[in-house]
Amino acid sequence: MRDFKRYLVTSALPYANGPLHIGHLAGAYLSADVYVRFMRLMGKDIVYIGGSDEHGAAITMRALKDGLTPQEVVDKYHDLFVKTFEKVGISFDIYHRTSDPLHHETSQDIFRTLYKKGLFTEEESEQYYDPEVNQFLADRYIKGTCPKCANPDAYGDQCENCGSTFSPTELINPRSVLSGSEPILKKTKHWYLPLNDHETWLREWIEEGTVDGVFKHYPDEWKNHVIGQCKSWLDGGLQPRAMTRDLDWGVDVPHDVPGHEGKKLYVWLDAPIGYISATRQWAKDNGKKWEKYWKDDDCQLIHFIGKDNIVFHCLIFPAVLKAHGDFVLPYNVPANQFMNLEGAKISTSRNWAVWVHEYIEDLPDKIDELRYCMIKNMPELKDTEFTWKSWQDANNNELVANLANFINRVVVLTNKYYDGKVPAFDEDASFTGSSGDDSEFYDSEMLSLHDELQELCQSIRTFDFRSGLKSLMDISTKGNQLLQYNEPWKLVKEDPETTKTIMNLAIQYVYVLGVAARPFMPETSDKILALLNLKPLKEKGELLKLLDKLCEGETLVKAKHQIGEPLHLFSRIDDSVVATQMAKLIKEEPTPVPATTATPESKPLRDPITYDDFIKMDMRVATILAAEKVANADKLLQLTVDLGFEQRTVVSGIANYYKPEEIIGQKVTLLANLAPRKIKGIESKGMILMSENSDGVLKFVAAPAGAENGSQIS
Ligand code: 2FM
Ligand code: ZN
Repeated sequence: MRDFKRYLVTSALPYANGPLHIGHLAGAYLSADVYVRFMRLMGKDIVYIGGSDEHGAAITMRALKDGLTPQEVVDKYHDLFVKTFEKVGISFDIYHRTSDPLHHETSQDIFRTLYKKGLFTEEESEQYYDPEVNQFLADRYIKGTCPKCANPDAYGDQCENCGSTFSPTELINPRSVLSGSEPILKKTKHWYLPLNDHETWLREWIEEGTVDGVFKHYPDEWKNHVIGQCKSWLDGGLQPRAMTRDLDWGVDVPHDVPGHEGKKLYVWLDAPIGYISATRQWAKDNGKKWEKYWKDDDCQLIHFIGKDNIVFHCLIFPAVLKAHGDFVLPYNVPANQFMNLEGAKISTSRNWAVWVHEYIEDLPDKIDELRYCMIKNMPELKDTEFTWKSWQDANNNELVANLANFINRVVVLTNKYYDGKVPAFDEDASFTGSSGDDSEFYDSEMLSLHDELQELCQSIRTFDFRSGLKSLMDISTKGNQLLQYNEPWKLVKEDPETTKTIMNLAIQYVYVLGVAARPFMPETSDKILALLNLKPLKEKGELLKLLDKLCEGETLVKAKHQIGEPLHLFSRIDDSVVATQMAKLIKEEPTPVPATTATPESKPLRDPITYDDFIKMDMRVATILAAEKVANADKLLQLTVDLGFEQRTVVSGIANYYKPEEIIGQKVTLLANLAPRKIKGIESKGMILMSENSDGVLKFVAAPAGAENGSQIS
C-alpha cells in the first residue's frame, strides 16, 4: 500500500438505456462511494468521476424499441441517473455524460494521436448490411437461429438460451432487426488496435506490476479474480480490435482522418475516455489542472467496475493509454462480481430486478438501510444474493437491535442523569468494574477504540468493505457491552462517579460511530452527530484527526458539552413491507427463456446403485480461480479451482460452452475424490459436475448460494 499525492477514482459509466438496479449499485457505485468518502475523511486529495455512457448499440436499440430518438433516450436516463445517484448518496465530484461536446473533443484527440502515431492498422472485413435501410448492422441488430441450440431468437453475438457466443456470420437464417429482411455481407474498412502487439508489456504489468521494470502497482493488492480473468485473456492470445464502427450515433472519427465518413468511434473506446473528459470538466469548474490527475505519476487511478468490464479496463483501455504515451495506468481495478436477486440472476429484459428509483419512491426513508444491506452483501470476491428477507433481517437484527439501540440508550441516559450534558469524571475515582482506576480503564478503552478503527480503515483501504462494515458494527457491539456489563442505570445509585466515567466513554463511542459510519451510511452519520448536537462531517480529514486524538488519549466530545434529544435512528421493518416488495417482484417472475425447437428426449436412467456406492463419492463446492484453453484440444479447459482447504487443477470438457474469461469466480460442484487422471499431459484432480440438456448443451450444476468452498454435498 503506497501513499500518493492525489487519487482519481472512477465508477463504470452506466449505459443511459434503462434505469439502474441494485446490481449496478453493488457492482461499481457503492464500493467506490465508500472508498472515496473514506479517503476524503483521511484528508486525501481525491476526485470521484462518474457519468453516463450515451453511445453504442445499447442506446440505439432502446430508441428503436421505445420510438424515441437516441438523444431523447439518453436525456431521459441521464436525468434519472443524476437523481437516483444523488438520493442514494453516491458522492461524485462530477457526473458527466459522453454526449457532451468536451467528451467528443477529448476522445477525437486521443483517436487522432494514436492514428498519427501509426498505432492503428486499417483492415477491410465483411459485415452484415441491411440493404432495405442502407445500414451496417451491429451484432445486436441481427437475429437468427443459434448454431448451438437452435433457439430461433439468438442475437448476432450471443444466444440467451444456451449462453454461447459466436460471430454473426455463424447464425443460421440471419435477419435484420430493423427491417426483418435477410442481411447481405458487405465490405467495410475500420481502424484496429493491434492488441496482440501489447501482449508482452500488458502481461508484465498485470503479473509483475511493472512496465519495463518500473514499479506501477502491487499485483498482490489486486483481486484474484481480476488477475485470473486478465491472465485468461492473455493466455488465450489477444487479437486486434476494431476501434471504429459504421453507425450514425456516437463520436465521429475525426474529420481530418481520410475515410472518416460514416464512421464512429467504438463505444468501448469512447466510454473510458469519458473518465478523462469528465475530469477535464471538473477541473474547469473548480479551477484545477486535470493533467495533475491523469498525467502525473503521483496520482493513483482506481477503476470501480463490475466483472463484465474487466477486459476493457485492465487490457484495452490501458493499451490505449500507454499507446498514447502521456497517461498514468490504473493502479488497481477492484472489480466486483455480480449480485443475484432472490435466487435468480438479475435480468433487465425480464424485469427481474429491484430498480433503485422505485426503491427510493417506495422506501424514501430507508436509503441507509439499503446501503447497509448491499455493503454487507457486496459481491467483492464472489457472486452474492440480495433477498428482501436479508434486507429486513439486517435492519431489524443489526441496525435496530445493535447500532440504534446502543446510541439511543446513551442519549436517553445522558439526558436523564445529566440533563444532556457530557459528564465530567473524577480521574482518581476507583472503578468498580475493573482492576485499575477509572482513568486507566478509560485510556485503555480509548486505545482499543483506536485499534478497532484502524482495522476498519485497513479493510476499506484494501477494498474489503464488508469487513469494514463489520468493524463498525463490532464497535457498536462493544458499546452495548459496555452498558450491559456496567449497567449504569443501576450503578448510578451505588457509584455515581464511575457511572460518569462509563457514560462519558459511551458518548465517545457514539462519536466514533458517527464518524466511522460516514463512508457506509452518510445520512446515519449526520443523524448520530446531530444526536450529539454536532455538525455533519465535511469529509475533510475528520477521521484522520479522530485517530490522532484517540492515539493521544484526548477526549473527543468534551465534558459539559450539551447533546441533543433522543431519536430512533432506525425502526423495525414489518413482514408486510417485505411481502409488498416480494409481491411486486413475483408479479415479474422471470419467465423461462423460450424453449428450443428441439423436443426434449430424456436419456434412460443408468443402472441402480446402492447407497454404499453413492456415499463413496465426495462432492464439494469449489470456485474457479483461473481458466485457460488446453493446447490442441478444442473442447478442453484447464481450470484452477479453490476448495477452501486447497487449490487444484481440473481439466474439463466445457470449452464449447464457456469462454475461459467468463467463468472466473464461478461457483461449481466438484467430484473431489475421483482418482487423478492425465488428460493431454495435464494431471486432472476431480470432475466438475455439469447438467446436459436434450441438445447436449452443458451447464454448471450450481452450488447453493452462499455455500463456502470445500462444503460437502451429500
Ligand atoms: O457495461 C456498461 O454498462 C458500460 N456502459 C460500462 C462503461 S465503463 C467505462 F468504460 F465507461
Ligand atoms: Zn443457443
